[in-house]
Amino acid sequence: MVLGPNGAGKTTLLQVAAARLHPTSGAVQILDETLGAVDVFELRPRIGLCSNAVAGSLPERETALNAVVTAAYGVTGRWREEYERLDERRAFELLDAWGVSTAFDRPFSSLSEGERKRVQIARALMTDPELLLLDEPGAGLDLAGRERLVQRTSRLIGAEDAPATVLVTHHLEEIPPGFTHVLMLRDGRTVASGPIDETLTAETLSETFDMPLELHRRDGRFSAFAAS
Ligand SMILES: Nc1ncnc2c1ncn2[C@@H]1O[C@H](COP(=O)(O)OP(=O)(O)O)[C@@H](O)[C@H]1O
Ligand SMILES: [Mg+2]
Repeated sequence: MVLGPNGAGKTTLLQVAAARLHPTSGAVQILDETLGAVDVFELRPRIGLCSNAVAGSLPERETALNAVVTAAYGVTGRWREEYERLDERRAFELLDAWGVSTAFDRPFSSLSEGERKRVQIARALMTDPELLLLDEPGAGLDLAGRERLVQRTSRLIGAEDAPATVLVTHHLEEIPPGFTHVLMLRDGRTVASGPIDETLTAETLSETFDMPLELHRRDGRFSAFAAS
């Protein structure tokens, strides 16, 4: 988990972790590779990224299925009939796993916010990545949509073959049960980092958001309110 207020640098950090952005100073190691000493076009398919920036770059009329399947094309780098069919089948299965297969032939832009989020996650999973990065996947969802996303994400990270997953949010309610570690950021700096159970406290949270906060925890879920 990466937690922090708006402008803390969460998205920037994730762009670096996704090998989409180079730091101006310092060294970055991702999946045992060093950024700058590795071909990013080989590294990127090993990393699934779900962010609004990716969604925004999809063509207007792209169908949900194509929004997922095109994530594979950068990998194969060539077009063959047999790849195409296999890729489409995989894309459809991913849409199905995230409960949006009925929307497969609808334009991505016409989908509801919740459907779009799930299509984006399916897209991020298309290359069967070793590392999955989710930048505020719950943003803009209604209560039921958020809860469904939390449940599905929790199931995803609990699977035996799950990729290492990093989820960015500024809402504690969006933390799916099963995440083990947290990095708390404020103004581009680390406030605290470590196992969630020890690290996420009312104190670190108050410091991260620069406000006295109360932290509540129940059955692996979190919420927070202004301290009274
Ligand atoms: N470590 C950093 N050093 C310099 N600038 C940073 C750093 N982290 C974030 N920024 C800048 O701060 C701004 C907000 O960062 P962003 O990653 O969008 O925050 P968040 O996703 O947490 O809201 C961006 O303009 C970004 O370039
Ligand atoms: Mg952000």
